[in-house]
Amino acid sequence: MSDRYAVIGRPINHTKSPLIHGLFAEASGQALEYGAIEGGLDDFETQVLHFRRDGGRGMNITAPFKLRAFELADRRSERAQLARAANALKFEDGRILAENFDGIGLLRDIEENLGEPLRDTRVLMLGAGGAVRGALLPFLQAGPRELVIANRDMAKALTLRNELNHPRLRISRYEELEGLGFDIVVNATSASLTGELPPLPKGVLAETRLAYELAYGKGLTPFLRMAKAQGVARMADGVGMLVEQAAEAFAWWRGVRPETRGVIDRLTIALE
Ligand code: ATR
Repeated sequence: MSDRYAVIGRPINHTKSPLIHGLFAEASGQALEYGAIEGGLDDFETQVLHFRRDGGRGMNITAPFKLRAFELADRRSERAQLARAANALKFEDGRILAENFDGIGLLRDIEENLGEPLRDTRVLMLGAGGAVRGALLPFLQAGPRELVIANRDMAKALTLRNELNHPRLRISRYEELEGLGFDIVVNATSASLTGELPPLPKGVLAETRLAYELAYGKGLTPFLRMAKAQGVARMADGVGMLVEQAAEAFAWWRGVRPETRGVIDRLTIALE
């Protein structure tokens, strides 16, 4: 029997993970099965434990279970601890290990696929929720000149800054961004899911080379439309991040790093 993996979330019907991992397995000659499980709000933990009991080797975790997966684990990586969330679990020697590859997946996409190294750049991240938590540590390790987090709720942003206490990390209200310029701007708010635009002052994207929308498959969101109107050269959605975080999990589970370019091309939906 081949090794078993699965993604668990709620809802799970739109997940691309089985397709992505299936393509990775095929291309790297790994024998594995990868399924999708609709998680239950009352029995998520039992479902994970049953999957492991039935021979599962690892799982991807998606909304709304990332925090519960983190809490269920016996051991947690540093980036999972900072994110307080797990997006991947590995079952090994009777233990549950937790990782969070969302941030590193985003970073790899920006630096390697989109060709924008973060070193010495001015980076702006919108939002202070789970997505930003996951990205902060890998982003700071990439050595930007400054990393600014803008959020409506300043208490949330302050908590993040206090947890990290890094000299290059600043927090800001949206209105305080007026007159500033950034090389890379990442929209990590959930605003695009409801067709909203974070309250960015006009002109803040004027010097931006890359506008990155974390949401995947939403087309030209209000944020990307604003970037386009301000002449931003390059726009991206989260497809590369989705594939890169999957590649990280695959490498963690299997010890083999899969090729991502072809898979990203296959999943890319034109932005316009
Ligand atoms: P996720 O795990 O996807 O990051 P989350 O933890 O619920 O989701 O966080 C959502 C983030 O999107 C928050 O930072 C939220 O801002 P506030 O903390 O100020 O509420 C942000 N957000 C959601 N809708 C937004 C909007 N219309 N404009 C700006 N920020 C928005």
